[in-house]
Amino acid sequence: MKRKVTKAIFPVAGLGTRFLPATKSVPKEIMTLVDRPLIQYAIDEARAAGIKEFIFVTARGKSALEDYFDCAPQLEAELRKKGKTDLLKILKATNMDSGAIAYIRQQKAMGLGHAVWCARRLIGNEPFAVILPDDVIAAERSCLQQMVDAYQETGGNMVAAMEVPADKTNAYGVLDVDQDMGQMVSVKGMVEKPDPDTAPSNLAVIGRYILTPRVMQNINRSKQGAGGEIQLTDAIAQEIENGGGVYGFRFKGQRYDCGSKAGFLQATVAFGLAREDLRGEFSEYLRELMCHAKAAE
Ligand code: G1P
Repeated sequence: MKRKVTKAIFPVAGLGTRFLPATKSVPKEIMTLVDRPLIQYAIDEARAAGIKEFIFVTARGKSALEDYFDCAPQLEAELRKKGKTDLLKILKATNMDSGAIAYIRQQKAMGLGHAVWCARRLIGNEPFAVILPDDVIAAERSCLQQMVDAYQETGGNMVAAMEVPADKTNAYGVLDVDQDMGQMVSVKGMVEKPDPDTAPSNLAVIGRYILTPRVMQNINRSKQGAGGEIQLTDAIAQEIENGGGVYGFRFKGQRYDCGSKAGFLQATVAFGLAREDLRGEFSEYLRELMCHAKAAE
């Protein structure tokens, strides 16, 4: 048995400029898919995978995130008084155990690798997960859970992976595949945001990682990489050179890029349609909309 992964880092320090003006006062991670903030999906996925300690790397202007995970005694009392037990249950499902959450500030936006490194003292000498809440993954068995299962076999370092269109490699970390075993690939190199003509493949890293503490040490020595930022991808690639195993895991599920407006809208539609209480009315509306659009053509 490999050592259990019980700690996860959630890098949430980004400014979310792509969603201005909303993100002027609302952290991107609090924006809602149907009725739940993005961060709640990430937390639920981590919990399902057995994570017990949740480390948020935040920044100025993100206090709404801390409030979100606090208890809401007034609200709870009000709902109890009114007998709204369903809502009370929904509210309580968001409560976190005391001491299960830690907040660390990334003082300067120096990249994803640097954000992860900010949590080094809380990670210590243990394997850890990283979840990027922008990547929302709808799956029967949560993506991180699938990875934790696979990790029991492989150990080492594991990144979620997905084929992307060949002309989109410059938006992702991209894997140089050594052996392709189907769901799992072993990796001999990783490049952050390569141009399509130099990319080693179109197998891209999606925002779920299980990493060894050695990656943390590598970040410490990392120089600025793509975009002038300290990249997590480079610290993982360094681990390959050090002889540590790195695997890509093709997860089962649908990934939505909620860091982009189009992706966020697609996720909204998909999650809306997946909800029993909304499906009827919402799908009816979408059908009508499509009919009007076709008629107008
Ligand atoms: C980050 C990582 C990149 C990864 C991507 C997945 O990039 O640096 O390797 O492929 O997340 O969403 P970002 O989207 O933050 O630029």
